[in-house]
Amino acid sequence: MAELEVLTDAAVLIDGERIAWVGPRREARDLHSAFRIPQSAIVVVEVAGVLFPGFVDCHTHAVFGAPRLDDHERRALGMDYKTIAAAGGGILESVRDVRARSDAELAALTRARLGALLAHGATTIEVKSGYGLDCETELRQLRVIGRLAGDHPAALVPTFLGAHEVPPEFRDRRADYVRLVCEEMIPAVARERLAVACDVFCEPGVFSVAEARTVLDAARRHGLAVKLHADEFDASGGAELAVEVGALSADHLAGVSPAGIRALAASETVAVLLPATLVFLGGRRQAPARGLLDAGAALALATDLNPGSSPTLSLPLVMALAVSQLGLRHAEGVNAVTVNAAAALGMASDRGQVAPGFRADLVACALADWREVAYWMGGNAVTAVWTGGSACPLPIGSVSLGPHVEA
Ligand code: NIG
Ligand code: FE
Repeated sequence: MAELEVLTDAAVLIDGERIAWVGPRREARDLHSAFRIPQSAIVVVEVAGVLFPGFVDCHTHAVFGAPRLDDHERRALGMDYKTIAAAGGGILESVRDVRARSDAELAALTRARLGALLAHGATTIEVKSGYGLDCETELRQLRVIGRLAGDHPAALVPTFLGAHEVPPEFRDRRADYVRLVCEEMIPAVARERLAVACDVFCEPGVFSVAEARTVLDAARRHGLAVKLHADEFDASGGAELAVEVGALSADHLAGVSPAGIRALAASETVAVLLPATLVFLGGRRQAPARGLLDAGAALALATDLNPGSSPTLSLPLVMALAVSQLGLRHAEGVNAVTVNAAAALGMASDRGQVAPGFRADLVACALADWREVAYWMGGNAVTAVWTGGSACPLPIGSVSLGPHVEA
Protein backbone atom coordinates (compact mmCIF):
# COMPACT_ATOMS: atom_id res chain seq x y z
CA MET A 1 0.00 0.00 0.00
CA ALA A 2 2.96 2.34 0.35
CA GLU A 3 3.59 2.28 -3.38
CA LEU A 4 1.88 4.40 -5.99
CA GLU A 5 2.71 4.57 -9.65
CA VAL A 6 2.97 8.28 -10.44
CA LEU A 7 3.25 9.37 -14.09
CA THR A 8 4.40 12.90 -14.86
CA ASP A 9 3.35 14.64 -18.05
CA ALA A 10 0.83 11.92 -18.74
CA ALA A 11 -2.31 11.50 -20.82
CA VAL A 12 -5.45 9.41 -20.39
CA LEU A 13 -7.70 8.26 -23.25
CA ILE A 14 -11.34 7.73 -22.31
CA ASP A 15 -13.69 5.80 -24.58
CA GLY A 16 -17.30 6.05 -23.44
CA GLU A 17 -17.47 5.11 -19.75
CA ARG A 18 -14.08 3.41 -19.61
CA ILE A 19 -10.41 4.27 -19.64
CA ALA A 20 -8.89 3.02 -22.91
CA TRP A 21 -5.26 4.03 -22.49
CA VAL A 22 -2.86 5.75 -20.05
CA GLY A 23 0.70 6.74 -20.86
CA PRO A 24 3.20 9.49 -21.55
CA ARG A 25 1.64 12.55 -23.13
CA ARG A 26 4.09 12.47 -26.05
CA GLU A 27 2.67 9.10 -27.12
CA ALA A 28 -0.88 10.44 -27.03
CA ARG A 29 -0.36 12.19 -30.39
CA ASP A 30 -0.54 8.88 -32.25
CA LEU A 31 -3.51 7.46 -30.38
CA HIS A 32 -5.99 8.06 -33.18
CA SER A 33 -4.06 5.73 -35.47
CA ALA A 34 -3.38 3.12 -32.77
CA PHE A 35 -7.08 3.08 -31.83
CA ARG A 36 -8.34 3.70 -35.40
CA ILE A 37 -10.35 6.75 -34.44
CA PRO A 38 -10.44 9.97 -36.46
CA GLN A 39 -8.40 12.73 -34.85
CA SER A 40 -11.51 14.93 -35.00
CA ALA A 41 -13.41 12.49 -32.73
CA ILE A 42 -10.97 13.07 -29.88
CA VAL A 43 -11.92 15.84 -27.45
CA VAL A 44 -8.81 17.10 -25.68
CA VAL A 45 -9.10 18.37 -22.10
CA GLU A 46 -6.00 19.92 -20.56
CA VAL A 47 -5.54 19.21 -16.84
CA ALA A 48 -3.05 21.26 -14.85
CA GLY A 49 -2.17 19.67 -11.51
CA VAL A 50 -2.71 16.10 -10.38
CA LEU A 51 -5.25 13.62 -11.75
CA PHE A 52 -6.33 10.91 -9.28
CA PRO A 53 -8.63 7.94 -9.70
CA GLY A 54 -12.06 9.03 -8.46
CA PHE A 55 -12.20 8.60 -4.70
CA VAL A 56 -14.48 5.91 -3.28
CA ASP A 57 -16.31 6.73 -0.03
CA CYS A 58 -17.09 3.19 1.13
CA HIS A 59 -18.98 4.04 4.37
CA THR A 60 -21.62 6.77 4.78
CA HIS A 61 -24.99 7.23 6.48
CA ALA A 62 -25.95 10.18 4.24
CA VAL A 63 -29.76 9.81 4.46
CA PHE A 64 -30.74 11.69 7.60
CA GLY A 65 -32.65 14.80 8.58
CA ALA A 66 -31.34 17.28 11.13
CA PRO A 67 -27.85 17.56 12.59
CA ARG A 68 -27.53 16.40 16.23
CA LEU A 69 -26.23 19.61 17.76
CA ASP A 70 -27.31 18.78 21.31
CA ASP A 71 -25.25 15.58 21.23
CA HIS A 72 -22.32 17.62 19.96
CA GLU A 73 -22.60 20.08 22.83
CA ARG A 74 -23.18 17.40 25.48
CA ARG A 75 -20.02 15.71 24.31
CA ALA A 76 -18.10 18.97 24.55
CA LEU A 77 -19.25 19.05 28.18
CA GLY A 78 -17.78 15.62 28.76
CA MET A 79 -20.58 13.07 28.10
CA ASP A 80 -19.55 10.11 25.98
CA TYR A 81 -21.33 8.63 22.93
CA LYS A 82 -22.95 5.77 24.81
CA THR A 83 -24.15 7.94 27.73
CA ILE A 84 -25.70 10.41 25.29
CA ALA A 85 -27.51 7.57 23.52
CA ALA A 86 -28.80 6.27 26.87
CA ALA A 87 -30.07 9.81 27.67
CA GLY A 88 -32.31 9.88 24.57
CA GLY A 89 -29.86 11.34 22.05
CA GLY A 90 -27.83 9.24 19.67
CA ILE A 91 -29.11 7.15 16.80
CA LEU A 92 -32.70 7.00 18.12
CA GLU A 93 -32.99 10.79 17.93
CA SER A 94 -32.20 10.60 14.21
CA VAL A 95 -34.67 7.72 13.87
CA ARG A 96 -37.53 9.84 15.29
CA ASP A 97 -36.50 12.63 12.92
CA VAL A 98 -36.24 10.48 9.77
CA ARG A 99 -39.53 8.70 10.43
CA ALA A 100 -41.27 12.10 10.49
CA ARG A 101 -39.80 13.42 7.23
CA SER A 102 -41.16 13.04 3.72
CA ASP A 103 -39.28 11.22 0.99
CA ALA A 104 -38.89 14.52 -0.87
CA GLU A 105 -37.23 16.16 2.13
CA LEU A 106 -34.91 13.22 2.71
CA ALA A 107 -33.98 13.17 -0.96
CA ALA A 108 -33.22 16.90 -1.08
CA LEU A 109 -31.06 16.74 2.05
CA THR A 110 -29.22 13.64 0.86
CA ARG A 111 -28.65 15.15 -2.58
CA ALA A 112 -26.99 18.21 -1.06
CA ARG A 113 -24.61 16.04 1.00
CA LEU A 114 -23.77 13.77 -1.94
CA GLY A 115 -22.98 16.91 -3.95
CA ALA A 116 -20.57 18.04 -1.24
CA LEU A 117 -18.86 14.61 -1.15
CA LEU A 118 -18.56 14.70 -4.96
CA ALA A 119 -17.11 18.21 -4.87
CA HIS A 120 -14.36 16.77 -2.64
CA GLY A 121 -13.63 14.04 -5.18
CA ALA A 122 -15.88 11.10 -4.19
CA THR A 123 -17.14 9.50 -7.42
CA THR A 124 -18.52 6.31 -5.83
CA ILE A 125 -20.39 6.62 -2.53
CA GLU A 126 -21.79 3.85 -0.37
CA VAL A 127 -24.96 4.97 1.46
CA LYS A 128 -26.59 3.05 4.33
CA SER A 129 -30.13 3.04 5.64
CA GLY A 130 -30.43 2.60 9.41
CA TYR A 131 -32.42 5.59 10.66
CA GLY A 132 -35.79 3.98 9.99
CA LEU A 133 -35.67 0.80 12.09
CA ASP A 134 -39.12 -0.19 10.89
CA CYS A 135 -39.83 -1.93 7.64
CA GLU A 136 -41.54 1.01 5.97
CA THR A 137 -38.95 3.66 6.85
CA GLU A 138 -35.92 1.45 6.14
CA LEU A 139 -37.35 0.75 2.68
CA ARG A 140 -38.17 4.43 2.24
CA GLN A 141 -34.54 5.37 2.96
CA LEU A 142 -33.30 2.80 0.45
CA ARG A 143 -35.80 3.90 -2.20
CA VAL A 144 -34.60 7.50 -1.74
CA ILE A 145 -31.04 6.29 -2.41
CA GLY A 146 -32.25 4.32 -5.44
CA ARG A 147 -34.03 7.33 -6.91
CA LEU A 148 -31.02 9.59 -6.36
CA ALA A 149 -28.78 6.96 -7.96
CA GLY A 150 -30.84 7.33 -11.14
CA ASP A 151 -29.68 10.87 -11.82
CA HIS A 152 -26.73 11.60 -9.54
CA PRO A 153 -23.31 11.92 -11.20
CA ALA A 154 -21.68 9.88 -8.42
CA ALA A 155 -22.30 6.13 -8.40
CA LEU A 156 -24.30 5.24 -5.27
CA VAL A 157 -23.98 1.86 -3.55
CA PRO A 158 -26.93 1.20 -1.19
CA THR A 159 -26.46 -0.85 2.00
CA PHE A 160 -29.27 -2.04 4.29
CA LEU A 161 -28.53 -1.29 7.98
CA GLY A 162 -31.82 -2.20 9.68
CA ALA A 163 -29.76 -3.58 12.59
CA HIS A 164 -28.27 -0.18 13.49
CA GLU A 165 -30.01 -0.05 16.90
CA VAL A 166 -33.01 -1.66 18.60
CA PRO A 167 -35.99 0.72 18.11
CA PRO A 168 -37.87 1.86 21.25
CA GLU A 169 -40.99 -0.20 20.45
CA PHE A 170 -38.85 -3.36 20.65
CA ARG A 171 -36.77 -2.38 23.68
CA ASP A 172 -38.01 -5.24 25.83
CA ARG A 173 -38.17 -7.82 23.05
CA ARG A 174 -35.00 -7.44 21.05
CA ALA A 175 -35.15 -11.00 19.74
CA ASP A 176 -38.42 -10.04 18.01
CA TYR A 177 -36.65 -7.11 16.33
CA VAL A 178 -33.83 -9.35 15.06
CA ARG A 179 -36.53 -11.69 13.71
CA LEU A 180 -38.29 -8.75 11.99
CA VAL A 181 -35.02 -7.70 10.34
CA CYS A 182 -34.33 -11.25 9.14
CA GLU A 183 -37.81 -12.38 8.19
CA GLU A 184 -39.43 -9.22 6.84
CA MET A 185 -36.94 -6.46 6.12
CA ILE A 186 -34.16 -8.46 4.44
CA PRO A 187 -36.55 -10.41 2.18
CA ALA A 188 -38.27 -7.13 1.18
CA VAL A 189 -34.93 -5.42 0.49
CA ALA A 190 -33.79 -8.37 -1.62
CA ARG A 191 -37.11 -8.66 -3.47
CA GLU A 192 -37.05 -5.00 -4.52
CA ARG A 193 -33.26 -5.10 -5.08
CA LEU A 194 -32.93 -2.03 -2.87
CA ALA A 195 -29.46 -2.79 -1.50
CA VAL A 196 -26.36 -4.68 -2.55
CA ALA A 197 -25.12 -5.31 0.98
CA CYS A 198 -26.29 -5.67 4.57
CA ASP A 199 -24.49 -4.15 7.56
CA VAL A 200 -24.99 -4.52 11.35
CA PHE A 201 -23.79 -2.32 14.25
CA CYS A 202 -22.09 -5.10 16.24
CA GLU A 203 -21.02 -3.60 19.55
CA PRO A 204 -21.53 -4.43 23.24
CA GLY A 205 -24.83 -2.75 24.18
CA VAL A 206 -26.07 -2.59 20.58
CA PHE A 207 -26.10 -5.94 18.70
CA SER A 208 -24.14 -8.91 20.02
CA VAL A 209 -21.94 -11.11 17.85
CA ALA A 210 -24.63 -13.83 17.92
CA GLU A 211 -27.37 -11.40 16.83
CA ALA A 212 -25.15 -9.94 14.11
CA ARG A 213 -24.34 -13.44 12.84
CA THR A 214 -28.07 -14.24 12.61
CA VAL A 215 -28.74 -11.07 10.57
CA LEU A 216 -25.75 -11.51 8.26
CA ASP A 217 -26.58 -15.19 7.65
CA ALA A 218 -30.10 -14.17 6.62
CA ALA A 219 -28.67 -11.47 4.35
CA ARG A 220 -26.35 -13.94 2.63
CA ARG A 221 -29.20 -16.40 2.12
CA HIS A 222 -31.00 -13.59 0.27
CA GLY A 223 -28.01 -12.88 -1.95
CA LEU A 224 -26.75 -9.73 -0.24
CA ALA A 225 -23.06 -9.06 0.37
CA VAL A 226 -22.26 -8.41 4.04
CA LYS A 227 -20.23 -5.87 6.01
CA LEU A 228 -20.02 -4.99 9.67
CA HIS A 229 -19.62 -2.06 12.08
CA ALA A 230 -17.10 -4.00 14.16
CA ASP A 231 -15.36 -3.25 17.46
CA GLU A 232 -16.04 0.50 17.09
CA PHE A 233 -15.48 1.23 20.76
CA ASP A 234 -14.89 -2.11 22.50
CA ALA A 235 -13.65 -5.48 21.29
CA SER A 236 -16.43 -8.05 21.17
CA GLY A 237 -15.23 -10.28 18.36
CA GLY A 238 -16.73 -8.15 15.58
CA ALA A 239 -13.66 -8.35 13.34
CA GLU A 240 -13.50 -12.13 13.77
CA LEU A 241 -17.20 -12.40 12.90
CA ALA A 242 -16.69 -10.27 9.78
CA VAL A 243 -13.98 -12.67 8.61
CA GLU A 244 -16.03 -15.74 9.55
CA VAL A 245 -18.99 -14.64 7.40
CA GLY A 246 -16.81 -13.49 4.49
CA ALA A 247 -17.68 -9.82 4.89
CA LEU A 248 -16.41 -7.35 2.29
CA SER A 249 -15.31 -5.09 5.13
CA ALA A 250 -15.07 -4.69 8.89
CA ASP A 251 -15.48 -1.02 9.71
CA HIS A 252 -14.34 1.27 12.61
CA LEU A 253 -12.12 -1.18 14.60
CA ALA A 254 -10.83 1.26 17.26
CA GLY A 255 -11.32 -1.51 19.81
CA VAL A 256 -10.16 -4.45 17.65
CA SER A 257 -8.32 -7.19 19.58
CA PRO A 258 -4.99 -8.79 18.57
CA ALA A 259 -6.98 -11.87 17.50
CA GLY A 260 -9.22 -9.64 15.36
CA ILE A 261 -6.17 -8.10 13.70
CA ARG A 262 -4.77 -11.56 12.93
CA ALA A 263 -8.09 -12.72 11.53
CA LEU A 264 -8.37 -9.68 9.23
CA ALA A 265 -4.77 -10.04 8.08
CA ALA A 266 -5.38 -13.62 7.02
CA SER A 267 -8.57 -12.74 5.11
CA GLU A 268 -9.92 -10.84 2.11
CA THR A 269 -12.04 -8.65 4.40
CA VAL A 270 -10.98 -5.00 4.15
CA ALA A 271 -10.42 -3.05 7.38
CA VAL A 272 -12.23 0.28 6.89
CA LEU A 273 -10.96 2.96 9.26
CA LEU A 274 -12.87 6.17 9.97
CA PRO A 275 -10.49 8.60 11.68
CA ALA A 276 -12.78 11.63 11.35
CA THR A 277 -15.35 9.87 13.56
CA LEU A 278 -12.97 9.45 16.46
CA VAL A 279 -11.69 13.01 16.11
CA PHE A 280 -15.28 14.36 16.03
CA LEU A 281 -16.19 12.28 19.10
CA GLY A 282 -13.29 13.92 20.90
CA GLY A 283 -11.47 10.77 21.97
CA ARG A 284 -7.73 10.37 22.07
CA ARG A 285 -7.85 6.88 20.62
CA GLN A 286 -7.65 5.78 16.98
CA ALA A 287 -7.82 2.35 15.36
CA PRO A 288 -4.46 0.51 15.23
CA ALA A 289 -3.79 1.26 11.57
CA ARG A 290 -0.08 0.39 11.66
CA GLY A 291 -0.75 -2.83 13.53
CA LEU A 292 -3.29 -3.81 10.87
CA LEU A 293 -0.98 -2.88 7.99
CA ASP A 294 2.08 -4.55 9.49
CA ALA A 295 0.06 -7.72 10.07
CA GLY A 296 -0.90 -7.66 6.38
CA ALA A 297 -4.51 -6.47 6.45
CA ALA A 298 -5.95 -4.47 3.53
CA LEU A 299 -6.93 -1.04 4.76
CA ALA A 300 -9.43 1.51 3.44
CA LEU A 301 -10.61 4.90 4.71
CA ALA A 302 -14.06 6.53 4.58
CA THR A 303 -15.89 9.60 5.90
CA ASP A 304 -18.62 7.74 7.89
CA LEU A 305 -20.77 10.80 7.07
CA ASN A 306 -23.60 10.74 9.66
CA PRO A 307 -25.36 13.22 11.97
CA GLY A 308 -24.06 11.85 15.28
CA SER A 309 -20.42 10.96 15.05
CA SER A 310 -19.08 12.26 11.75
CA PRO A 311 -20.59 15.20 9.84
CA THR A 312 -17.63 14.83 7.48
CA LEU A 313 -17.84 15.61 3.76
CA SER A 314 -14.25 15.37 2.59
CA LEU A 315 -12.17 12.29 1.82
CA PRO A 316 -9.06 14.49 1.41
CA LEU A 317 -9.62 15.62 5.03
CA VAL A 318 -9.92 11.96 6.06
CA MET A 319 -6.62 11.24 4.27
CA ALA A 320 -4.93 14.11 6.09
CA LEU A 321 -6.26 12.79 9.42
CA ALA A 322 -5.04 9.30 8.50
CA VAL A 323 -1.52 10.63 7.98
CA SER A 324 -1.47 12.70 11.17
CA GLN A 325 -3.58 10.50 13.48
CA LEU A 326 -3.14 6.95 12.17
CA GLY A 327 0.46 7.10 10.97
CA LEU A 328 -0.35 6.33 7.35
CA ARG A 329 2.01 7.42 4.61
CA HIS A 330 0.52 9.64 1.90
CA ALA A 331 0.56 6.77 -0.62
CA GLU A 332 -1.23 4.49 1.85
CA GLY A 333 -3.85 7.21 2.29
CA VAL A 334 -4.44 7.50 -1.46
CA ASN A 335 -4.63 3.72 -1.92
CA ALA A 336 -7.04 3.57 1.03
CA VAL A 337 -9.61 5.84 -0.68
CA THR A 338 -9.22 4.39 -4.17
CA VAL A 339 -8.29 0.77 -4.91
CA ASN A 340 -8.86 -0.55 -1.37
CA ALA A 341 -12.07 1.40 -0.83
CA ALA A 342 -13.32 -0.08 -4.11
CA ALA A 343 -12.42 -3.53 -2.72
CA ALA A 344 -14.44 -2.76 0.42
CA LEU A 345 -17.46 -2.48 -1.91
CA GLY A 346 -16.55 -5.53 -4.00
CA MET A 347 -15.70 -3.27 -6.96
CA ALA A 348 -11.90 -3.47 -7.12
CA SER A 349 -11.81 -4.84 -10.66
CA ASP A 350 -14.01 -2.03 -11.95
CA ARG A 351 -12.86 1.24 -10.36
CA GLY A 352 -10.27 2.88 -8.13
CA GLN A 353 -7.39 2.86 -10.65
CA VAL A 354 -6.41 4.92 -13.67
CA ALA A 355 -5.83 1.92 -15.91
CA PRO A 356 -7.23 0.55 -19.18
CA GLY A 357 -10.60 -1.13 -18.74
CA PHE A 358 -11.41 0.69 -15.50
CA ARG A 359 -14.39 3.02 -15.16
CA ALA A 360 -13.40 6.53 -16.18
CA ASP A 361 -13.86 8.15 -12.78
CA LEU A 362 -11.23 10.85 -12.38
CA VAL A 363 -10.52 13.78 -10.07
CA ALA A 364 -8.36 16.74 -11.04
CA CYS A 365 -6.73 18.67 -8.20
CA ALA A 366 -4.84 21.97 -8.31
CA LEU A 367 -1.74 20.59 -6.61
CA ALA A 368 1.95 20.57 -7.49
CA ASP A 369 2.76 17.36 -5.57
CA TRP A 370 0.23 14.50 -5.27
CA ARG A 371 1.02 14.17 -1.55
CA GLU A 372 -0.65 17.54 -0.96
CA VAL A 373 -4.03 15.81 -1.32
CA ALA A 374 -3.46 14.44 2.19
CA TYR A 375 -1.88 17.64 3.49
CA TRP A 376 -4.19 20.67 3.14
CA MET A 377 -6.38 19.90 6.12
CA GLY A 378 -9.96 20.91 5.33
CA GLY A 379 -9.03 22.56 2.04
CA ASN A 380 -10.48 21.50 -1.27
CA ALA A 381 -8.12 21.40 -4.24
CA VAL A 382 -10.58 19.58 -6.52
CA THR A 383 -11.06 21.49 -9.80
CA ALA A 384 -12.90 18.94 -11.94
CA VAL A 385 -14.50 15.50 -11.61
CA TRP A 386 -15.44 12.93 -14.26
CA THR A 387 -17.66 9.93 -13.56
CA GLY A 388 -18.13 7.24 -16.16
CA GLY A 389 -16.28 9.44 -18.65
CA SER A 390 -18.57 12.49 -18.23
CA ALA A 391 -17.59 15.79 -16.65
CA CYS A 392 -19.68 16.44 -13.51
CA PRO A 393 -21.25 19.75 -12.66
CA LEU A 394 -19.89 20.62 -9.22
CA PRO A 395 -21.91 22.60 -6.69
CA ILE A 396 -20.72 26.20 -6.75
CA GLY A 397 -20.32 27.93 -3.38
CA SER A 398 -21.90 26.54 -0.26
CA VAL A 399 -25.02 24.41 -0.15
CA SER A 400 -27.34 23.89 2.81
CA LEU A 401 -26.50 20.50 4.28
CA GLY A 402 -29.27 20.38 6.88
CA PRO A 403 -32.93 21.39 6.98
CA HIS A 404 -33.34 25.16 6.92
CA VAL A 405 -36.17 27.55 7.62
CA GLU A 406 -37.60 29.29 4.56
CA ALA A 407 -37.05 33.06 4.59
O1 NIG B 1 -20.76 4.71 12.15
N1 NIG B 1 -21.74 3.35 14.85
C1 NIG B 1 -22.83 3.40 14.36
N2 NIG B 1 -23.25 4.22 13.44
C2 NIG B 1 -22.68 5.48 13.14
C3 NIG B 1 -23.14 6.54 14.05
C4 NIG B 1 -24.52 6.82 13.79
C5 NIG B 1 -25.09 7.92 14.60
O2 NIG B 1 -24.58 8.27 15.68
O3 NIG B 1 -26.09 8.45 14.12
C6 NIG B 1 -21.19 5.41 13.05
O4 NIG B 1 -20.45 6.05 13.80
FE1 FE C 1 -20.96 4.03 10.43
